[in-house]
Amino acid sequence: MSETTSMLDKKDTAAEHEVLLDAQDVKVHFPIKRGVFFDKTVGHVFAVDGMTLQIRRGETYGLVGESGCGKSTFGRALLRLEEPTNGTVTFAGTDLSPLKGEALRTLRRHMQMVFQDPLSSLDPRQTVESLLLEGMRAHGLTKDAKAADARLRELLTAVGLPVAALRKYPHEFSGGQRQRIGIARALSVDPELIVADEPVSALDVSVQAQVINLLQDVQEQFGLTYLVIAHDLAVVRHISDRVGVMYLGSLVEEADSDGLYATPLHPYTRALMSAVPIPDPLIEDQREQIILAGDLPSPANPPSGCRFHTRCPWRQEERCDTERPQLRVVQIDGVPTSHRVACHYAEQIHSGEIERHEVSATAVDPSSLSDSPTVNTQENPGGPISAP
Ligand SMILES: Nc1ncnc2c1ncn2[C@@H]1O[C@H](COP(=O)(O)OP(=O)(O)OP(=O)(O)O)[C@@H](O)[C@H]1O
Ligand code: SF4
Ligand SMILES: [Mg+2]
Repeated sequence: MSETTSMLDKKDTAAEHEVLLDAQDVKVHFPIKRGVFFDKTVGHVFAVDGMTLQIRRGETYGLVGESGCGKSTFGRALLRLEEPTNGTVTFAGTDLSPLKGEALRTLRRHMQMVFQDPLSSLDPRQTVESLLLEGMRAHGLTKDAKAADARLRELLTAVGLPVAALRKYPHEFSGGQRQRIGIARALSVDPELIVADEPVSALDVSVQAQVINLLQDVQEQFGLTYLVIAHDLAVVRHISDRVGVMYLGSLVEEADSDGLYATPLHPYTRALMSAVPIPDPLIEDQREQIILAGDLPSPANPPSGCRFHTRCPWRQEERCDTERPQLRVVQIDGVPTSHRVACHYAEQIHSGEIERHEVSATAVDPSSLSDSPTVNTQENPGGPISAP
């Protein structure tokens, strides 16, 4: 066995056993207030509604799902930037729930965020030097001026910017360079976990790969663990060890990256996957096409039972509308226990015993609290699924 292989094996074994972040049944429900003084709670937005996942030290966990499914709220709840309504988040063995004030601030040094839009997340009135020193100062990392200066230079080199960048302001940089500054700022306090929320979606396609590569380089250099949030499966595929697929506030599927792409089991994942071009012409030709009917239902009025049932081309009369499926291990040959799916019928769908049918759904007004989407399903085995 080569030295590199044995090192990788060691890393994999260690990573398998050490959970850095453990989120259990995390919920974030935003109250909807009405009345003259907005003092009456008339409902809730169930933005995050039962997220359970573990992130192992050194791995990259990719979290995907369409706009509004609760990805950012969940990422913020992990850092307690959003107060969870329910559930626990444990980081490196410490339960974050009882932490307040200074204790929470101290722990946050180890958990940093990189945001989608680097321009709006960087104070335009501060130079890069001041932006980078801000967090370091807050955590007492600038007491030794020489060491702080060396750290600034190390950070700039790590993100591929010249030292002259220190005296410039955010608007003097391109989008890709600004995201490099955002990454340097996250790195400045020497974190263990970085939650990168859509880190490349605001960038030109031509620079997206550079920033993704940079994230991978600094992960290795600084021994980081990542939660990478994206609505684009292609972005997380390249970077993630494991991927979780989120729909209306909770996970519907979770697997090793390769396993998920090779054998997507949840109907929603299959639909997302069918929209991603595959660079292998043979596989591309055989790729199934599933176009989801209707919009994402309002998280203020989520569908009963399986939350995907209003759009699911495999929906069944039994259970789908009434019983919320839990993330579970499936009994399918070759699918490991690490691959879990929240669908009552994952096995039968995979084997072809249950065939897909046409779905038509009306668009949902996101502000509606009482209107449910109208759904008609009709048998059309194997037929194309199309939006109305
Ligand atoms: N502070 C808030 N008060 C009320 N509702 C909120 C608040 N923040 C988010 N929401 C709602 O919670 C739901 C989830 O929002 P969130 O931003 O987490 O989704 P997302 O998956 O990150 O979407 P995107 O891909 O567009 O960034 C949305 O319906 C959003 O409108
Ligand atoms: S539980 Fe039913 S509605 Fe939900 S994904 Fe599975 S088949 Fe579709
Ligand atoms: Mg978001």
